[in-house]
Amino acid sequence: MQKISNRIYSVGVNDDDKVLFEGLWPLPYGVSYNSYLVVDEKIALIDTVEAGFEEEFLENIHSAIGERDIDYLVVNHMEPDHSSLVGYMLDRYPQLRIIANAKTLPMLQGYYGTPQEKVLVVKDGESINLGTATLSFHMIPMVHWPETMVTWLAEENTVFSADAFGTFGVVGEDITDNEDTFELYRDEMIRYYSNIVGKYGIPVQSALKKLSGLPVERICSTHGPVWEKNVSEVVALYDKLSRYEVGRGVCIVYGSMYGNTAAAADALAIELESRGIPCAVHDLAGNNAGELGISGALRDVFKYDTIIAGSPTYNNGIFPPVETFMRALKSRLIKDRRFYAFGSYTWSGASVNQLNALAQEMNFELLGSGTSFAQAYTKDKFNASAIADLI
Ligand code: FEO
Repeated sequence: MQKISNRIYSVGVNDDDKVLFEGLWPLPYGVSYNSYLVVDEKIALIDTVEAGFEEEFLENIHSAIGERDIDYLVVNHMEPDHSSLVGYMLDRYPQLRIIANAKTLPMLQGYYGTPQEKVLVVKDGESINLGTATLSFHMIPMVHWPETMVTWLAEENTVFSADAFGTFGVVGEDITDNEDTFELYRDEMIRYYSNIVGKYGIPVQSALKKLSGLPVERICSTHGPVWEKNVSEVVALYDKLSRYEVGRGVCIVYGSMYGNTAAAADALAIELESRGIPCAVHDLAGNNAGELGISGALRDVFKYDTIIAGSPTYNNGIFPPVETFMRALKSRLIKDRRFYAFGSYTWSGASVNQLNALAQEMNFELLGSGTSFAQAYTKDKFNASAIADLI
């Protein structure tokens, strides 16, 4: 438990044990499930934490408010990493009223069998009074689920923002940021955004527009630090990411069966680096694959303007992990990227043409027809310098 202000307590937990967030995304630095108490004449709990942390969560709550009752549980977001202790809290605080919206209600009933009479359904912009403070509720649909809303505590210029502005990575003893926090979490925030929220750039833009009228001085997200000193940096990063804005640089993403496509990727990376072009390399398959896999590749797609995909021809098509990566780009509506494809084959090359076709479906700018080479990698078959000239 940490006291954030005279009214706000952080009562969430760190999860160091989960290996894959949503069953997909690696967590080398863990993740936090943040929950907050707003303590006034009445008490509101904003979101819960994932199941498995019941004892720690309850201890945190007791440390903040002792045996006082909780009057409201605000469910900003229904994804179970934040809502799965709704039933547990109702059992322990039977007088609790759940604050939810019309889209949340059937999810509460479907996931947890929550009785309708326990739920106070609020509309966009509605508020409740806690005594000296007011909580108002604002829908931000599709950031990144349809029921998502944020809660605004006007008396503290604080937004409880659900997953928005969230990041992977556990939080330290002091959840509130300092001068170094933004740089420390920046990459994990981009990875979180690209993995979880990346498809929803337009809804994020709508949410930012909606929140832009509020004098936000503190952001309490469901994941990662509480932002006070870096509010403008965090909002600017979300704005940039949701506009799909990127800088100059190359993201090389490849898979390799016997090391030939990998050797080409390495040669190209060395050539680009020798020219001072920012370059991230992601091997999606095999023993040398990076720990983050496609998760890290997606992060860097949200940083750089050029994607170079490498795939051997496999079953007359694209090597499966690389095809999955390309589909992940499409599902995130990635746009305005430059693209180049390469890869090895043994008897018939098909992967490069198929990669180019997928890139064209996304209206990427093809920087050439690609390089498809037979059997072993050699400098003659794969001219890294000529390819770098295209970048
Ligand atoms: Fe952290 Fe969308 O749940």
